[in-house]
Amino acid sequence: MKAAPAPPVTLVIFGVTGDLTRRLLIPSLVNLTSSGLVGDDFNILGVGIEPGDDAMLVDRLDAFLSGLGGQNPVSADPAWQRLKKRIAYISGDFTKDDVFGEISQRLGQASSGNAAFYLAVPPQFFGPIVDKLGQHGLVSEEDGAFRRIAIEKPFGTNLASARALNTQILRTVSEKQVYRLDHFLGKETVQNIMTARFANMMIESLWNNNYIDHVQITAAEIVDVGSRGKFYDATGALRDMVPNHLFQLLAMVAMEPPNSFDAEAIRNEKSKLLQALRVYTAEEAPLHSARGVYSAGTLNGKQVPAYKDTPDVAANSMTETFVALKLYADTWRWAGVPFYLRTGKAMTARDTEIVVTFKQVPFAQFRKTDVTPDLPPNRLIIQVQPDEGLSMEISIKSPGQSIDTLPISMDFHYADRFDIGKMTGYESLLYELFLGDQTLFQRADGIEAGWAAVQPFLDLWAKGSPPDLYKPGSAGPQSAHELIARDGREWRDLRVPPPPAKA
Ligand code: BG6
Repeated sequence: MKAAPAPPVTLVIFGVTGDLTRRLLIPSLVNLTSSGLVGDDFNILGVGIEPGDDAMLVDRLDAFLSGLGGQNPVSADPAWQRLKKRIAYISGDFTKDDVFGEISQRLGQASSGNAAFYLAVPPQFFGPIVDKLGQHGLVSEEDGAFRRIAIEKPFGTNLASARALNTQILRTVSEKQVYRLDHFLGKETVQNIMTARFANMMIESLWNNNYIDHVQITAAEIVDVGSRGKFYDATGALRDMVPNHLFQLLAMVAMEPPNSFDAEAIRNEKSKLLQALRVYTAEEAPLHSARGVYSAGTLNGKQVPAYKDTPDVAANSMTETFVALKLYADTWRWAGVPFYLRTGKAMTARDTEIVVTFKQVPFAQFRKTDVTPDLPPNRLIIQVQPDEGLSMEISIKSPGQSIDTLPISMDFHYADRFDIGKMTGYESLLYELFLGDQTLFQRADGIEAGWAAVQPFLDLWAKGSPPDLYKPGSAGPQSAHELIARDGREWRDLRVPPPPAKA
């Protein structure tokens, strides 16, 4: 079914001169314009602190987009040429009232009253901006027009602050108006998890503790902290990646089948799963976690400074750049199945994947053959990025007269069939925001359940135990390997892409 164009709307972007807007929001809007999903009744009203007018903003975006897209820069895309005519700018301080007065006036001039307010700003401004939007009557939905608020991560820094932020926001708007973003939910393969499970009998019917031994969820990155020291040192790998991105993957993998593809039905199941995550006691938390920080070293031929020597990182920093957890979802379906999660910076490979390892066959009846009783288990691998795809590892008979088995992998790569290279991942999120479909956005209860599950680790590390060192270009600290090895299992090797073929 072809997607219908979004309704007319003004997208009000707070923080329009920032990195997120130019790197992700605008390129996605160019793609949506190009595919006809937003039309000439779509407008952008940017708000930023820099002095200037509409032309200043368009010129700055133009200059940035001319460096994107290689040989075919985004700035030359006819869709950008159309879109840029509908961009306006308000220069002002969004902690002050006059900016909101001006927004109100501009929205009053727009042909439709529909507006989506996108908070691409540091998190300390989320609550105050929503308060001001409320005080200026900008979020009341009158005459059938919608008013929505899109909020970037991080949503809170722990359970208490996430709860307080939800309370503050929900004083002004209803849950139906709030779109909490997690950009992982915009990734094609993440959305494909539901299809893989619920459109395939042979997958979903085995999807439980009778057949699954354990699940690994990895988000490994090659990049180091670089210029993000100020943000990162106050955040760390756990807060940055786990209660949001990794838990979204976990919820998609482990939730019960929703009874429809309706946003609330899906969000109910995801929240129920996150609420079922075991919350460890202070004694249990150290046994179920490992954390690390990278030392100095070389990665892909480049020198990487130790995390502690990164600009804006405290000299006595205790922040982790790697984390591994062993979690349980206490439900009938998943009783006894560990979920191992890991994420880190400056690792061997960029590799985000979900690996579902099945139990061994109950009985290997290959007596008097070359087949060892230890057949490798089947694995289903959902490759989220790069090289989005799906693989199934099974055993086959190797050709010949004797009976011998051979593990093989059946692989599907999205890139072999579809052209998804240009997409940023924000297209679906923005389109759904305009349509009013909250499936890909997080609900208050889901966010709080995620923070509740990681709170014991935050409490443990707040006591000041230093993270274990790991080398750049490795798969994390030794303690992460020990965490899984204690259960007689091992992490799947990170997928290192083959070196480029010589010309
Ligand atoms: C962001 C984190 O939310 O996600 C970054 O703040 C991280 O630290 C990024 O690098 C990873 O996203 P992606 O889409 O590049 O895997």
